[in-house]
Amino acid sequence: MSVQPFKLPSFAKLNWHLRVLGKRSDGFHELCTVFQTVSLADVISFAADDEFILTTDHPDIQTGETNLITRAARLLTELKGVSAGARIHLEKKIPAPGGLGGGSSNGAVALMGLARLWSVNVDKADLSEMAAKLGSDVPFFMHGGTSGASGRGTEFFPVPEIEEKHILIVAPRCDIPTGRAFEVLGRRDLTKTDAISILKICRNEALTLNLRESELVNDFEKVIFEIEPEIKRAKEKLLELEARKALMSGSGASVFAVFDSEELLQSAYNDLQIEDTWRKYIVRTISRMEYRESLKPVKEFIRD
Ligand code: C5P
Repeated sequence: MSVQPFKLPSFAKLNWHLRVLGKRSDGFHELCTVFQTVSLADVISFAADDEFILTTDHPDIQTGETNLITRAARLLTELKGVSAGARIHLEKKIPAPGGLGGGSSNGAVALMGLARLWSVNVDKADLSEMAAKLGSDVPFFMHGGTSGASGRGTEFFPVPEIEEKHILIVAPRCDIPTGRAFEVLGRRDLTKTDAISILKICRNEALTLNLRESELVNDFEKVIFEIEPEIKRAKEKLLELEARKALMSGSGASVFAVFDSEELLQSAYNDLQIEDTWRKYIVRTISRMEYRESLKPVKEFIRD
């Protein structure tokens, strides 16, 4: 008997902190970041089918071989020798591209959702390996919550959970491919000793990150603000509207702002209505526990 259709949320992330330390010999960059899942989410519906069919309500999202959901299905099919298909529908709410990990989150949730749909057990290690093949931000979406990450962004270390209830995300309509953002940074090649000592400093910054006192840093801001001044304007506007902190997420274009109260957040949201080309989302943090709870339907198919 085939599994009944089911839906899973696919949450967005932001980066509380993002340092790009230098270029590695494999062409990727060594990072130090703190990821956070937030309540903005796509919804992915899974149903049994003989063929593989991916549909979406968003006209700009490709559903072919470049979509991370399609690629996740291919990887899992190869690993488990599955011959069944799947009918998947993606309700897109997370702006893409936008530095909020929308596509990466979809890829991770697809891996887990398809394990349930096809009733195949997958080891956590296999899942992490497939996730890393899909992209550098994908493995984070296996855990969610607040998490430190280094390496390509796929090696995790624990940091204290951050809870913020009043966050406004603004996404100006700019499209910055991630690869290009890394290129324009022009980081030099890392030697092994550099990498170790800078990483130590970065991890310490990540571990002691405090959303009241610390300065939030995203190394992409300077260069991306030069290419797309509209993103800089969004950040400045959010700070003018009394955000406690504001920072670009990932390689942009989204900027998030943390407010001290619901009133301040609502008043900023209202004042921003005049910016009709910016998409705006009121969100809160999603803790690791909540994230795990949202993935409960797939838990029995994932082995330690
Ligand atoms: O891993 P992902 O496919 O998301 O990365 C897209 C591009 O961003 C890579 O091809 C690479 O050019 C760049 N990148 C990088 N270092 C990272 C992550 C991504 O240089 N840690």
